[in-house]
Amino acid sequence: MTQWNAYRAIETQSEPSVVTASWQQVDNTCLPEIGTDKGQGEVLIKVQYSSVNYKDALSASGNRGVTRSFPHTPGIDAAGTVISDASGMFSEGQEVIVFGYDLGMNTCGGYADFIRVPAAWVLTKPEQLSLADSMRWGTAGFTAALSVQKLLKAEIKPDGGKVIVTGATGGVGSVAVALLAKLGFSVVAVTGKAAAHDWLINLGASEVISRDELLPMAKKPMTRPLYQAGIDTCGGDMIAAVLPQLQYGGALTTCGMVAGADFSASVFPFILRGVDLLGVDSVEIAQTDKQLLVKKIADHWQLPNLVDFTETIGRSELSAVLADVLAGKGQGRYLLVLDQE
Ligand SMILES: NC(=O)c1ccc[n+]([C@@H]2O[C@H](COP(=O)([O-])OP(=O)(O)OC[C@H]3O[C@@H](n4cnc5c(N)ncnc54)[C@H](OP(=O)(O)O)[C@@H]3O)[C@@H](O)[C@H]2O)c1
Repeated sequence: MTQWNAYRAIETQSEPSVVTASWQQVDNTCLPEIGTDKGQGEVLIKVQYSSVNYKDALSASGNRGVTRSFPHTPGIDAAGTVISDASGMFSEGQEVIVFGYDLGMNTCGGYADFIRVPAAWVLTKPEQLSLADSMRWGTAGFTAALSVQKLLKAEIKPDGGKVIVTGATGGVGSVAVALLAKLGFSVVAVTGKAAAHDWLINLGASEVISRDELLPMAKKPMTRPLYQAGIDTCGGDMIAAVLPQLQYGGALTTCGMVAGADFSASVFPFILRGVDLLGVDSVEIAQTDKQLLVKKIADHWQLPNLVDFTETIGRSELSAVLADVLAGKGQGRYLLVLDQE
């Protein structure tokens, strides 16, 4: 087994907007012993799987909004086995999941053989969810599940009307489409990829519309109420285009900003149709809430088609996938197998 004081990790430099990540044999500066000046966490984990998210692509391309100092090891998701835990909460060999908090942002992340993190970041893997599946879901999938959870709390119902999902071929979007379809909702998928329409129908969408068809709605204060609810993964004008099309009492979740951080919209959908805009954060939510979400996925929300829309990649393919995701060309989820070249 690789010794943790000389392990493989991807290192990325601070080239703005270009993925410059490459695998290196590195020393243990990212994994300092607890109690030293740099001791950051109680739990040392052998990483077996990670995944690829938009935020990983930002970090891997030197985006200082995500990662302040370089070289850096990205990877906001990790799943593996505990090597040691100074907190006593986890036992050696236990299978665990870590996502969010500072992992892969300014703490060395899951694109490495090992991570060391605070015990307060570590989740116990439910028995019914495999380590690999936990990373097929990954941050993007967990965010989709949180978005669906928020809409269910807002009392959306399968017979209440269509649900629209933007950025539908992306990580969050694809899992949202598949999960809503599994729960019996009629899903309208919005995509910028003309070639992905059949793929989205196979995923569970009942209708696919192009981004170009949706965007002109951003200029209208209110239109025909076509959708019971929506999951927006893009931000910017995409939010402004969905809001005027929500039914009375409708709700829209927002989690991302690939299309922009700002939007301009009329207040009419809010004050005349009572619609709600619901923010979703997967990063800083309490460890107990993350654990409950992972259990809900394991017990009730497993997706039989998850393997079909997740590409399994080895270490040598990671840089190219990060570049694709950065360029908005990603499709579905990506499972990184650390032991696969
Ligand atoms: N709040 C949270 O906790 C949280 C957690 C996870 C992710 N996020 C955020 O959610 C967003 C999506 O994440 P992800 O991992 O799913 O990313 P992703 O896999 O790259 O998917 C984003 C999708 O958005 C669409 N898109 C790309 N550029 C666009 C543009 N300029 N205008 C409109 N649509 C565009 C594309 O889908 P189509 O080609 O199908 O349109 C793309 O596949 C990111 O901003 C990410 O940072 C937030």
